[in-house]
Amino acid sequence: MRITDPEIDTETENTTETETDTEGDAAVEGDAGADAVRPDPAPLAPGWVPPELDTTRAHSARIYEYLLGGMHYFDVDREAAETALRHIPQARAMVHENRAFLARAIRLLAESGLTQFLDLGSGLPGTGNIGEVARAVHPQARIVLVDYDPMVAVHARALVADGEPEHTAVVLADVRRPAEVLADPELRRVLDLDRPVAVVMSALLHFISPEEGPHAIVREYLAAVPPGSALVLTHVTDGGHPVQAEAARQAWGRTTAQMYVRTDDEIRALFDGTEIVAPGLVPRPLWRPDGEVRGDWEEIWGLGGVGIKR
Ligand SMILES: C[S@@+](CC[C@H](N)C(=O)[O-])C[C@H]1O[C@@H](n2cnc3c(N)ncnc32)[C@H](O)[C@@H]1O
Repeated sequence: MRITDPEIDTETENTTETETDTEGDAAVEGDAGADAVRPDPAPLAPGWVPPELDTTRAHSARIYEYLLGGMHYFDVDREAAETALRHIPQARAMVHENRAFLARAIRLLAESGLTQFLDLGSGLPGTGNIGEVARAVHPQARIVLVDYDPMVAVHARALVADGEPEHTAVVLADVRRPAEVLADPELRRVLDLDRPVAVVMSALLHFISPEEGPHAIVREYLAAVPPGSALVLTHVTDGGHPVQAEAARQAWGRTTAQMYVRTDDEIRALFDGTEIVAPGLVPRPLWRPDGEVRGDWEEIWGLGGVGIKR
């Protein structure tokens, strides 16, 4: 596939850091403090907390939601996020920059002709989710959202019901089992795996341990799609501050998923079999920025990149 010039036309602005109200109980629908900063105006489905959800343990989807300034999290998620913020005060900026990178990457691929997107570990759908970005370019873009968190599935399904059910699927599954995910009938209904697909693994693989084989997992997804498909990947690093990173990692250790920081070389290896498009695997604010790059980009620990399957 042909990737267009970095100076592509852009309508979407970089998301900027948002102040979040940290007072009060678990943020639920109608929580006025959180409502004030809620970035996602989409209506929620009734019963947005599935009965099987363990609300006593923090979960990465909701910690991320809290850091983004959303409202769908519980006390345990806020506490875990606040602990992480004590060690890494720029954690909010990091998640916003992750979302902004994702939007730029998806827009680039859509503008380059890709119309199918497989979002693995999709997270709670907020404003600027990949479906919105892709459909701004291709209204009929096909999107499959995969996550193992039941609350993500409830929200994502509400969004689907509201939007483009024919061209969207939500799969509640564990991405560590690629064969099952790829055989899912809903995924197959929406995606034609004989045509190029953007496989998106954004802020996902740092929840997969070395023993679980992230490299092999990525390979299995890429093996299922034809050349010209893309891999969109972001991953945290320790930013050159191993002590702070370890403290934050331990805060996450009490959640439902451990976090595994990887080196630049280990992250680069996840792109094996692809050609990484310019400007390469770089800190996310430096990846084809829409405007001026934030001065403190070095504080945004982690890398992002897009590879095209050969
Ligand atoms: C930090 S959020 C990232 C959300 C989104 N990809 C983004 O970048 O904005 C990580 C998401 O990955 C999901 N996740 C983590 N491990 C997973 C697994 N093994 N299978 C499916 N989903 C997983 C979590 O539930 C969460 O929604």
